[in-house]
Amino acid sequence: SPCILIGCPLDSGKRRQGCLMGPDAYRTAGLAQALRDLGHPVEDRGNVRPAPFTAKDHPKIVALEETIAWTTALADASETAMPDGVPIFMGGDHALSLGTVLGAARHAKTVDRPLFVLWLDAHTDFHTPQTTDSGNLHGTPLGYVTGRDGFDGFPIVDTPVPQENIAIIGLRSVDAAERAALQDTDVTYVDMREIDETGIAKPLSAFLAKVAAANGLLHVSLDVDFLDPSVAPAVGTTVPGGATVREGHLVMEMLHDSGLMTSLDLVELNPFLDERGRTATLMVDLTASAFGRRVFDRPTRAY
Ligand code: ARG
Ligand code: MN
Ligand code: MN
Ligand code: MN
Repeated sequence: SPCILIGCPLDSGKRRQGCLMGPDAYRTAGLAQALRDLGHPVEDRGNVRPAPFTAKDHPKIVALEETIAWTTALADASETAMPDGVPIFMGGDHALSLGTVLGAARHAKTVDRPLFVLWLDAHTDFHTPQTTDSGNLHGTPLGYVTGRDGFDGFPIVDTPVPQENIAIIGLRSVDAAERAALQDTDVTYVDMREIDETGIAKPLSAFLAKVAAANGLLHVSLDVDFLDPSVAPAVGTTVPGGATVREGHLVMEMLHDSGLMTSLDLVELNPFLDERGRTATLMVDLTASAFGRRVFDRPTRAY
């Protein structure tokens, strides 16, 4: 089905600016052509804009009203795009997933299928506006879509994503409040130690098997900081010890083989921090792997 590119120049989920240039960096790095070369029809719907909002001073939270306005607009864009193909949300910081996942959840409800979420990230992003220390809402989308309390003023999450439908892979920076909250849940979380010990394919295939068994929709959210900063420097929240290029491609290839991915976020790319476009180029190459680019064809594995 067609790939639908949707620019999300949201930069309100944290203080450091620059992610608003992400959508144009992906366009410049040739995302649409890479997908067309794989045989997919591609439609670029341009950039989403936030709903009108009035910014207020807030003692703790960064750009609260702006992020709420984006959430409203992106949930609509996501819900609208999903029946037409596989939307690829070109971020923008990770606060965009407050909206894209909400829209995917609404769509899943209308087609009466469960939504699953794969979160590829150094961080759990499981805060609420109450628990965050930084005040940065890019650290909250998984808290929001699972229906945690404390998101006053945001669109109501009428269909929360069940905890057991979520897997977070790549973890190496988790705040104490997030760890405490997560340990009481059925969310699957995979840190770098587990990846080192078992390989990344094992927990991923176990999760994909669950999605397949439930005939689920699968939203994938790829944070640049999932990758090691030595290969993906263009992100504000670098954490050493991240996924390699090879692990990144393996995940994306397995996603393609599974045939399960129904929407994709590309988040946290900050082109202002990039080196001759190498991070944008890597993200495009990873996306191409998720849409079928291969070194050699091989029999499709079942998950
Ligand atoms: N846990 C930290 C915070 O709440 C970092 C969040 C990083 N999130 C991200 N999407 N890069 O501030
Ligand atoms: Mn993130
Ligand atoms: Mn992160
Ligand atoms: Mn925090």
